[in-house]
Amino acid sequence: MSPIVAVTIAEVSKSVAQAKRRGQSVGYVPTMGALHRGHARLVEQARGECGFVVVSIFVNPTQFGPNEDYSRYPRTFESDREICQESGADLIFVPERETIYPAGPLSTYVEVPGLSDILEGSIRPGHFRGVATVVLKLFGVVIPDTAYFGQKDYQQQLILRRMVTDLNVPVEIVTVPTVRESDGLAMSSRNRYLNPEERVAARVLSQALAEAETAVSAGERSADRVRQILARRIESEPLASLEYAEVADAATLEPLRDLGTGRRAVALLAARVGPARLIDNAILPN
Ligand code: PAJ
Repeated sequence: MSPIVAVTIAEVSKSVAQAKRRGQSVGYVPTMGALHRGHARLVEQARGECGFVVVSIFVNPTQFGPNEDYSRYPRTFESDREICQESGADLIFVPERETIYPAGPLSTYVEVPGLSDILEGSIRPGHFRGVATVVLKLFGVVIPDTAYFGQKDYQQQLILRRMVTDLNVPVEIVTVPTVRESDGLAMSSRNRYLNPEERVAARVLSQALAEAETAVSAGERSADRVRQILARRIESEPLASLEYAEVADAATLEPLRDLGTGRRAVALLAARVGPARLIDNAILPN
């Protein structure tokens, strides 16, 4: 069945209330559209676990910096609708900007200091404040039981987990593994900014992570040497420029010195390839 398309909050509330009256649990996948198989995986998982599945498509202006790609962010509603239908969504919420921000800027924000100021947050100041605030607002509209986020945006899902814990938001957060192209590139709406040559070069992020995983499996225990492996691999690609290569505690993002001490470690990368800013990450072997 084709999903209901809702533009107003009242339409969402009505459908969700009906689903809850039928005894269905509500699963929710927030997105900014330009959907691909990574998003589809989130929706499929929600479909498998919940009675009623909501996807929102909203390019949230408050999480973009002044020099970022808000105005040129791809808007592909017809294809998004098909992907939502194929992956089993019941309702697509596509609000206007004014529905989410009716009086312009808000007076209330969600800040998750510490976690928000490092890595992505240090390069994109204010980004995670915009993300956490809009996600809490959208939770207030949809009132889901469970919400699904991708591991691809590792820091984002950690911040949102912290938000729901700290603020007693009664939503369970599920993190879904990164979906990749066949050559390893993490799927991203921003991959479509790449020309064919840059698209080939973009493989270097997942290759660097694979190299780091291999080194750790072979016994490497120095986080600094793993950072070096990541950085050197990215720097070996002339079309890529490294923004950060970090090895951090997987729960707190605190930079690590030693691996193999029983703390789970995550390797996190950001690089520019042509006009696109790409991120990727991998949990390192124990
Ligand atoms: P967006 O970039 O559209 O991503 C929506 C969700 O899809 C996020 O949880 C993201 O981690 C997940 N996702 C993206 N690529 C993925 C991949 N290759 N594999 C698995 N999951 C993937 O993230 C946002 O939108 C926004 O910040 C949002 C949370 C909607 C708030 O505006």
